[in-house]
Parts: sequence; structure tokens; C-alpha cells
Amino acid sequence: MPRLDQLLSSLGYGSRREVADFVKSGRVRRAGEVLKKADTKVEPEDITLDGETLEAPHGLLAMLHKPLGHVCTHSDGEGPTIYELLPPRWMARKPAVTSIGRLDKDTSGLILITDLGPLVHQFTSPKAEVEKIYEVTVDRELDPALVATFASGSVMLRGEDRPCLPAQLEITAPLTARLTLMEGRYHQVRRMFASQGWHVEKLHRSRFGPYTLDDLAPSQWRMLELPV
Ligand code: URA
Repeated sequence: MPRLDQLLSSLGYGSRREVADFVKSGRVRRAGEVLKKADTKVEPEDITLDGETLEAPHGLLAMLHKPLGHVCTHSDGEGPTIYELLPPRWMARKPAVTSIGRLDKDTSGLILITDLGPLVHQFTSPKAEVEKIYEVTVDRELDPALVATFASGSVMLRGEDRPCLPAQLEITAPLTARLTLMEGRYHQVRRMFASQGWHVEKLHRSRFGPYTLDDLAPSQWRMLELPV
């Protein structure tokens, strides 16, 4: 069992010192009873702070509807980051939250956020074959022959020596399509279309594995259950 101060600090509620102070002031309870000693060993589920249970005590998983113009890096300098859209406490967790894979600055849509390293691996490992769905708008009329080309498993991206895995393309209108990928190479959607002579004008990810955005508005996030 973790110590109360270590637990609260690792969940982003403050430094060990700040936590010790607010524990002393009587804001933390176990089963309704005030706990005043910061070194008490506790079960995370039994603890409340200001009457609220602790946030994601066994690891955090959330989805964010990334808006256009935000970058998925932690460092600034390249424009606003997705982390500015999330509660600051999530960055104070140890480890801090990170995105599972990335979306380009000019791509919108679903991105998962977690502080669980194994989950990042589970969702991004090529072996995991997690399905990602992208809504694509291009600059000129789509050719139905692209469907077979993308499904063939022979599309080569510039600078790479392995072809892309077969991908499913559904043409939804002359300039729009839905592309389903099982891998996640750098700028993959844009580069796949570029390899065939199309420029991607708009890109939005609507699905990542079992998760869909549903009615989550741009810049909003929603907590998810941890997968079993
Ligand atoms: N493919 C891209 O080209 N960009 C993304 O952000 C995601 C997939």
C-alpha cells in the first residue's frame, strides 16, 4: 500500500510538502474519518480529498478531441499544445500524461491520453494492429482505382523500404474518403495520398481502436475506463 503523501503527490495533487500541509489541515479522509498523518499507508479507493474520491488512482486514460492548430509535443515553441487543453493536474502526475501516438498540427480528431506506459505500447505497437479511421478531404477528384491500390499492401512511402500494410479506402464523395489504417507511420495518411498524386487538404481522425469521438466537441476531453 502506498503512503498517503506519496499517493496524493503521484496523482498530481501537490508536492510532498504541499500534500503534508493539506493533510494536516484535515482535508483528507478515509472512510469518513479525518487522516492527519501523511505517512499513513492507504488504499487509494478509500481516500477522499475535500469530500471527493481521488482522480484515476490506478492510472488515467482519456480521449481528447484535438482541434486544428494544436501540437502533440510537450514543449512549446511550435504553437499551442494539446496539454494546454487538459487539467494541469494531469501534467503534475508522476509519470505525467502523454498522448498515445500523435496527430499533426493540421489534423483534428481523436487522440488518447494516458499516464500508463504499457498502454501506450499496447496501442501503438505494430503487432497490436489497432484500427484507426481517418476522414480525408483531397484537392482533386478521387479515382476509384485508389481503393485497390491502398488495399494492395504495395504502397511505398518516400524514404521507406517497407510498403504500407493493406489499408481500406471508402470514397464517400468526389473529394472525400474514409481511410482505415492498422499502422501509424509518420504523416502516414498525407504521405499515402501524396504517393499517388493527391494532396490532403483536411484530415480528421474519427476512431482509434474501440473508441469514437461521438458528440465530444473540439478541445473537449472525456475520461475512459481502463481496458481490462
Ligand atoms: N496521418 C497523417 O498524415 N497525419 C496525422 O496526423 C495522422 C495520420
